[in-house]
Amino acid sequence: MADRPILVTGGAGFIGSNLVDALLARGYSVRVLDNLSTGKRANLPDDERVELAVGDVADAACVRRAMSGCQAVVHLAAVASVQASVEDPIGTHQSNLIGTLNVCEAMRAEGVTRVLFASSAAVYGNNGEGEAIDESTPTAPLTPYAADKLASEHYLDFYRRQHGLEPAIFRFFNIYGPRQDPASPYSGVISIFTGRAQKGMPISVFGDGEQTRDFIYVGDLVEVLVQALEAPVVEQGVVNVGLNQATSLKQLLAAIGDVLGGLPAVSYQAPRSGDIRHSRANNARLLQRYRLPEPPTSMRAGLAKLLGR
Ligand SMILES: NC(=O)c1ccc[n+]([C@@H]2O[C@H](COP(=O)([O-])OP(=O)(O)OC[C@H]3O[C@@H](n4cnc5c(N)ncnc54)[C@H](O)[C@@H]3O)[C@@H](O)[C@H]2O)c1
Repeated sequence: MADRPILVTGGAGFIGSNLVDALLARGYSVRVLDNLSTGKRANLPDDERVELAVGDVADAACVRRAMSGCQAVVHLAAVASVQASVEDPIGTHQSNLIGTLNVCEAMRAEGVTRVLFASSAAVYGNNGEGEAIDESTPTAPLTPYAADKLASEHYLDFYRRQHGLEPAIFRFFNIYGPRQDPASPYSGVISIFTGRAQKGMPISVFGDGEQTRDFIYVGDLVEVLVQALEAPVVEQGVVNVGLNQATSLKQLLAAIGDVLGGLPAVSYQAPRSGDIRHSRANNARLLQRYRLPEPPTSMRAGLAKLLGR
């Protein structure tokens, strides 16, 4: 059992490749299924225990082949851009919902039961804004991205009840860390700000910079994911992943300036319509089920790792 690989869909991406490193460090072998749309081969280490299958989760036969012989799955592959889903709902749906269904069907066919799924705080829409959002907050998906994530959660629950899958479903808040692509305009705000700051390029902030997000370092997230893979049983119910800490964009910029020893010019533009002003996770359930590093990686320490300082 121990030498059967863990399948990581989207394993060549930002979170996936950080997870692959953590799994290898624990002695696992890993099979990555990735279409390399935003992921990169170079994100994966040159290690004989890592196998890269280049293919699409929207292709059922391809997912079935990748699933064969695996002991568990971490399903991260998705078009991770909300904006892309707004522009191309049908195209992104192939990856973001059909992909999940293909994973479920392949698990059923291959007798694999444990699956971790990357859902998103986007499923809450504007609900709970300004509070620490707990998992009982009503969902209100506002975009095709959020609708596909929420539907994926429901399908996984169906496969749990009907076919005995053991899904551990996580609603990620804002994850940051090394290998997040600063070149993508849809990438997380931290990678965009740090990417520009490192090059000395001016930084534009949409809005007054007082909007807040709950940022968690990718290294802390992958520790939780490994625990969920190894847990004897998966308790039912989705789990928010955040630190229950609100950091404003202004505070974030100050922290980046602190780590880099200065900042380029910062300008404030009109707010983007539809942007949520405050987003923060109530993470009581996360802390009840899993251990975060104690203390969790601070923003300053996380930025220092990201910036190689
Ligand atoms: N980064 C965050 O803050 C955040 C927040 C909430 C949820 N998530 C979710 O976490 C997961 C990982 O996101 P990320 O930030 O690492 O983004 P990413 O774009 O770096 O990773 C996604 C990976 O999936 C691959 N992929 C996309 N479509 C695919 C397809 N059809 N078939 C096979 N591979 C495909 C990409 O090439 C990439 O390697 C995604 O499901 C995303 O929606 C991320």
